[in-house]
Amino acid sequence: MKVDGKPYRTIWLGADGTTVQAIDQTLLPHEFVVRDLKNVVNATNAIKTMVVRGAPLIGAAAAYGMALAMAEDPSDTMLARAYTELLESRPTAVNLRWALDDLRALLAPLPPAKRREAAYKRAAEICDEDVEICRRIGENGLALIRKLKPHGDRINALTHCNAGWLATVDWGTALSPIYQAHDAGIPIHVWVDETRPRNQGASLTAWELGKHGVPHTVIADNAGGHLMQHGQVDFCIVGSDRTTRSGDVCNKIGTYLKALAAHDNGVPFYVGLPYPTIDWTISDGVAEIPIEERSQREVSHMTGRTDAGGLATVAVLPDGSPAANPGFDVTPARLVTGLITERGVSAASEAGLLALYPEQARAA
Ligand code: MRU
Repeated sequence: MKVDGKPYRTIWLGADGTTVQAIDQTLLPHEFVVRDLKNVVNATNAIKTMVVRGAPLIGAAAAYGMALAMAEDPSDTMLARAYTELLESRPTAVNLRWALDDLRALLAPLPPAKRREAAYKRAAEICDEDVEICRRIGENGLALIRKLKPHGDRINALTHCNAGWLATVDWGTALSPIYQAHDAGIPIHVWVDETRPRNQGASLTAWELGKHGVPHTVIADNAGGHLMQHGQVDFCIVGSDRTTRSGDVCNKIGTYLKALAAHDNGVPFYVGLPYPTIDWTISDGVAEIPIEERSQREVSHMTGRTDAGGLATVAVLPDGSPAANPGFDVTPARLVTGLITERGVSAASEAGLLALYPEQARAA
């Protein structure tokens, strides 16, 4: 997507052929800064501190993290260490494990001298593949949007967190159909949940929709149910950090509440996801998906731009009040209208997913 007329991906290989570059998402929307990732420690920290975030981008960054590790030291010891350290950087998005397993399976049988080149090649392929997958999610979602019967003169979508191009390598998952609808001339407007505590909606989704010219309105996280009751939401669309084989969807904290409100009001609730987000090894999302618990400080403090133009961090809780910060929740499959993947749209069920991915059927 373009930033002030210049096309960008979220992550790319630098001109020296070794350094990886990524947009620093901790500074948006106030500052646009590109960070250099020069070694595997830089890559691991970028994932931990959410310089890069969003399930598909975490996977791409982990793949490049393995490449950076192989550039430093292509030994078996480094391969094992880089795999473990990157895997521990964030627990919930399964794209991380998927990308690391892919790279390890490729690199382990190779002689060390061949690992660096193979790792960079595969990381670049994963990025290109993600762009194509997200483009296809957009096409499949656009077909659904074309069939919606809007309540007014525009189609109103509601989204939570950021599942746009910033969360992937390009296009996004949930936002890809929205970009494609907008580009096709469909009058689409997006209600953007602010997504406390880290404000991925207010800071990232609003920024990228604005850069692309998509009409949108940021709402407090608690406003969605009210808007749905008043017919102002035609469909919800969110991304996923991990989807079980039975169609349970784990996504940013607060997604579940939106799905409940959508169900109560008969509003379709769609999830856009690429295949590396499906965890075929588990069925019960609530019981089996590890939920990241992040720092209390993300709840107790907020950072923003002052009227004078500088950035400031302020406390929003009384001194001494503890905070809890679970990063994700699970929306049970029964609340999901459809899963929009690169292969098509399926019911949120094992049968639905297996119809799209028959190669994942278990041997009897
Ligand atoms: O904590 P984050 O910002 O990495 O969480 C991101 C989300 O929950 C996204 O909705 C999800 O990764 C899907 S991204 C296409």
